Amino acid sequence: MPSSLNIWFVLVVSISVLISWTSLIGEGGKSSAPSAPGFSSVSLASSHVESSLEYDFYRQTCPQAEAIVRSSMARIYSEHQDVSPALLRLFFLDCFIEGCDASVLLDDSNGDKNRSIERQAIPNKTLKGFDQIDLIKEELEKACPGVVSCADTVSIATRDGIVLAGGPFYPVLTGRRDSSHSYYDEALAEIPRPDDNVTQTLHLFALRGFDERETVSLLGGHNIGKIGCELIEKRLSDFKETGQPDPMIAPDFLTEMRLKCQDSSSNSTTLLPGMSYLQTLSSSISSGAGFGTHYYRSLLMGRGLLFADQQLMAEEKTARLVRAYASDDGSTFRMDFGRALMKMSSLGVLTGSKGQVRRNCSMPVFTF
Ligand SMILES: *[C@@H]1O[C@H](CO)[C@@H](O)[C@H](O)[C@H]1NC(C)=O
Ligand SMILES: *[C@@H]1O[C@H](CO)[C@@H](O)[C@H](O)[C@H]1NC(C)=O
Ligand SMILES: *[C@@H]1O[C@H](CO)[C@@H](O)[C@H](O)[C@H]1NC(C)=O
Ligand SMILES: *[C@@H]1O[C@H](CO)[C@@H](O)[C@H](O)[C@H]1NC(C)=O
Ligand SMILES: *[C@@H]1O[C@H](CO)[C@@H](O)[C@H](O)[C@H]1NC(C)=O
Repeated sequence: MPSSLNIWFVLVVSISVLISWTSLIGEGGKSSAPSAPGFSSVSLASSHVESSLEYDFYRQTCPQAEAIVRSSMARIYSEHQDVSPALLRLFFLDCFIEGCDASVLLDDSNGDKNRSIERQAIPNKTLKGFDQIDLIKEELEKACPGVVSCADTVSIATRDGIVLAGGPFYPVLTGRRDSSHSYYDEALAEIPRPDDNVTQTLHLFALRGFDERETVSLLGGHNIGKIGCELIEKRLSDFKETGQPDPMIAPDFLTEMRLKCQDSSSNSTTLLPGMSYLQTLSSSISSGAGFGTHYYRSLLMGRGLLFADQQLMAEEKTARLVRAYASDDGSTFRMDFGRALMKMSSLGVLTGSKGQVRRNCSMPVFTF
């Protein structure tokens, strides 16, 4: 009895989230029209209709699948807390480029060094988390060989990682299948970049059906983990090929960023691993690591780490949202973030007989 009550509770919760999510899509379709009139609304409409993701898709074929992912993630997280931001980034880039089909994990170059693959297109190959997905997938393969897709593994593991980091729980529907090839050119052209201005960022997210509010909440994912110094460095010394730092960075913050990113004790080119948003506020914050609103509070103080982050303050329509997320206990951000990730997790999914289920996430299954 208690367990069936539990299931109903989850169902009711996910349905109500779904409903508000659908109404968000309605708004997003309308408001994001100017940049790409047909594209965003059409792709949203079709992904919504065609998508046959289900609640607990593996209930017959691998009922323990989600529990396996959860326990593997808990084990990995206990040793490597940076798995949460790493998977969030992996998931985001995978879904952003041709949908959540695990194409980002794929090395379909077949040993051909000349063949470019998607994961190499990511700015300076800063992508991590492949090994962790492989570990989880191995566990899944032991229990249910050839059943659970890499795309579902990434989606569920990312959600569990966010919860482990103190972020919101959101329901992840399942039934995604894996693509058989990766998309290098699309990846190069369509990934939002750390030095994009707010217009460009909003445009790239609108192409995927995200409105301004969803975009600002998704960027808030930067609140966990570190931003790599290789993404920050140009802002500190050679901003937009000027040979000067970004003039918008206040001198004291510039000094702090240089200390954290440029290792002056050795040769000047050595870069340190990165800087977190919690560190940007460290002087004004005593405790409260983990998921929170510090990203938005940093932007309010002009202490954004990436140019694209700080750009959210450059226009009133996004600055207004930053102020809203920064001003309460974090519950608005958590709710919006969970909803936006749910929406992202169903972008361009392959379901039914499309795609394949890879056993090794980096290897396509060859069918003849
Ligand atoms: C890669 O490209 C180079 C130059 O175009 C060519 O000489 C070489 O044979 C190619 N290698 C493979 C494995 O195709
Ligand atoms: C990647 O790194 C190289 C050299 O380290 C640099 O020239 C290039 O601009 C970087 N690219 C990006 C997108 O950051
Ligand atoms: C923003 O970036 C785009 C593309 O790089 C550029 O065309 C546009 O002029 C920029 N807008 C502003 C306000 O700087
Ligand atoms: C930088 O490295 C080079 C070679 O590794 C060395 O000759 C040089 O003295 C170093 N410069 C400084 C400032 O440490
Ligand atoms: C998956 O395939 C890659 C590339 O061939 C290989 O290096 C890796 O060991 C494989 N992983 C597993 C778990 O078999």
